[in-house]
Amino acid sequence: MTNNVSRISDLKILFVEDDGFLQKTISDYLRKRGMKVHTASNSMEAIELLSTEPVDLILTDIIMPGMDGIDLLRYVKKRMPDLPVIIITSSREIHYSIEALRANANDYILKPIPMEELATRIALTFMKAEAQKREKVQHFRMVEKVMEKDKGVEETFLRSIRSFINAIEARDRYTKGHSLRVSDLVTRMLKKLGINSDLAANIILASQLHDIGKMGVSDNILNKHSGLSNDEFHTMKTHPEVGYFILKPILSDEGLKGILHHHERWDGEGYPMNLSGNEIPLSARIINLADSYDAMVSDRNYRRSLNLEQAIYEIERCKGAQFDPHLVPAFVEVLRERPRREKEIPSIRAVEA
Ligand SMILES: [Fe+2]
Repeated sequence: MTNNVSRISDLKILFVEDDGFLQKTISDYLRKRGMKVHTASNSMEAIELLSTEPVDLILTDIIMPGMDGIDLLRYVKKRMPDLPVIIITSSREIHYSIEALRANANDYILKPIPMEELATRIALTFMKAEAQKREKVQHFRMVEKVMEKDKGVEETFLRSIRSFINAIEARDRYTKGHSLRVSDLVTRMLKKLGINSDLAANIILASQLHDIGKMGVSDNILNKHSGLSNDEFHTMKTHPEVGYFILKPILSDEGLKGILHHHERWDGEGYPMNLSGNEIPLSARIINLADSYDAMVSDRNYRRSLNLEQAIYEIERCKGAQFDPHLVPAFVEVLRERPRREKEIPSIRAVEA
């Protein structure tokens, strides 16, 4: 709309017609009805006029010298899809009406047509186009609102995840920062392997929460300074399954598998299900590498932490036993490329589960 058209008679029309007599007769009538009518004798003239003169509706003939009315319709709809275009023609050839329909003409009028009816069709077409425009704006607003709501839900979800991590680390004083360091390594590893989108997002979430099941382990076992008894070790080994059940309502399948199987070993000697090789889900094999590395470079009660080269030596030594031999080379590359963050973080003591 050029401005606030309060009455149909205020409409600005561009009338494109090469027949001088018809052009004058019809535009005179529309002007008498109060409409402001610009005229053009061909499509190029119309396009030129449109570049300087905004209009509310175009009324165009089809058969004209040079570019025909259907091409003008296509040109306008590509650049100004909301501007209504009425085709008015004396041609009875069906292919014109089909092409006009395909090119989104707002109305198709056959000449001759009584002037009164033409004015009514213009008014109706304009009102319909305005209603569609309003509907489109409302639709966009609705989509925007839904997107805002979705964003809010996502933020709440991520805040809940952070709370879970805080809850794990508040109970286990030796693992402060462990979850985030593991997820940082997992993120780099996924990037290195070219895994992205939803799958990567789920594996990263799982890596942040892989030890949440330790919430089900008592404080005296979790923070024990000396070695664990068989029973205590058995209790500690339940944490992947406990974590799986805690997160079942909110994590995807791949994320849940990453948590349940993050202590499986490539040779089948891990827990809880003694899976081996490719039976172990990819998410779990990646988390296991990152989790084990972070444990190696953290101080323990019974030994000092390993440095980067010692940890890499250990990971390569355990290739095919604890770790997936196909993933180890990429993981070592990630470690070598990675900023030496462990040097920047105060010495961390961790309890190996
Ligand atoms: Fe664990």
